[in-house]
Amino acid sequence: MSVYQATVSAPVNIACIKYWGKRDTKLILPTNSSLSVTLDQDHLRSTTTSRADPGFDSDRLWLNGKEEIIAPGGRMATCIAEMKRLRREVEEKNSSEPKLSTFGVHISSRNNFPTAAGLASSASGFAALVSSLAALYALPANPSELSLIARQGSGSACRSLFGGYVAWQEGTAADGSDSLAIEIAPREHWPDMHALICVVSDDKKGTSSTSGMQRTVETSPLLQHRIKHVVPERMKTIQKAILERDFDTFARVTMQDSNQFHAVALDTDPPIFYMNDVSRSIIAIVTEYNRLAVANGGKLKAAYTYDAGPNAVIYAPKENIKEIVELIVSYFPQAEPFKDPFALFGTAGVGEG
Ligand code: PMV
Repeated sequence: MSVYQATVSAPVNIACIKYWGKRDTKLILPTNSSLSVTLDQDHLRSTTTSRADPGFDSDRLWLNGKEEIIAPGGRMATCIAEMKRLRREVEEKNSSEPKLSTFGVHISSRNNFPTAAGLASSASGFAALVSSLAALYALPANPSELSLIARQGSGSACRSLFGGYVAWQEGTAADGSDSLAIEIAPREHWPDMHALICVVSDDKKGTSSTSGMQRTVETSPLLQHRIKHVVPERMKTIQKAILERDFDTFARVTMQDSNQFHAVALDTDPPIFYMNDVSRSIIAIVTEYNRLAVANGGKLKAAYTYDAGPNAVIYAPKENIKEIVELIVSYFPQAEPFKDPFALFGTAGVGEG
C-alpha cells in the first residue's frame, strides 16, 4: 500500500519594513507592502510532516506534539482547503492520480527553537504547512504561488517561502491574486548579513497581531500617513540598499521603520505597548554604538528591529556581532532579565527558503 507523506521545513523571517494593518481580514490583504530577511534554517525553523490516508476521516493537527483543534472556517482550515483545491485540479487533469484531495490529512509541526523563547512562529509555521502540503500533493507550484496561500494563514508567512531578502507586494486586486511574496535577492547576494536575536521576555504577547492591527486600522491617523506617505518610499530605498549591499542605508531605514511601527501601536486607541524597558535599553545601546562609529568617521554598524513584542532582533555585518554581544552583555551582566542564554544570543545568518 502506498504511503502519502511529506516533510518540509521553513525558516522564520523578520521584517525590516513592517506589515501592520489589513485591508481585507478574511483574505489577509495588507494595507502596505513589507520587506523581510529570512533567517538561517539551522537556528529557527518549523518542520512539518503531512500525511494523507484514505483511513483518516478528518483533518487533524499537532503543534509541538500537542493536538490543536482546526477551527472550521479558520485560517488553518482555509490553507488546507486551498491546498486540497489545487490538488483537485491536478486530479481532474490526470485521472490516474490518486484522489488525495478526498483523504483526510494529518499534520504534525515542530519548531527547532524553544517555544518559550517567545519568538513569533506563525510565519515559519504556516510556510512549512503550505510547503509540506504542496510536496504531499505533488503540486507544480512556485514559491510566489504558494505565498498566496500561506498569506491566508498568517500574513507574514508568505515571506517565509523564500530565503534571503523578500518583499510582500500589497497588490491591488480585490481577490488577493497579486498580494504575494517575491525574492529581492537570494541569501548569497549578501552573506555577510547576520541577525542577533535577543529574547527579552518569553511571555505571551499581550495584544495579538490580529486584534492589534484591527484596532490600529480603526483608530490611528498616523497609520494612514504611514501607508500613503512613508512606506512606498522606504520600500524603494531599502530594496536599492539591499541590491547595493549598502548596510548604512539598510540599517537607517530598518530602525526608522521599527520605530514608526511602534509609534503607530502607541497611536492606537487604546494604545498598544509592545516594547518594555529592556527593549528600550537595547535601542539606546545600539544607538550609542552607531553614534560612536559615525563620530569616528565610520558608518552605521548595527540595526535593531522589534515586532509585536519586546524581543530585539539586531541586524549587523558578521564582523560586528561579537562586539555587539559583548556590549549588550556588559549592560546586563547577570544574564537577567534574560532567561535562556541560548535564546538570548542565537545568531543567525541569512537563510534559504
Ligand atoms: O503575520 P502576523 O499576523 O503574525 O503579523 C506580523 C506583524 C509583524 O511581525 C509585527 C510585522 C511583520 O511584517 O512581520
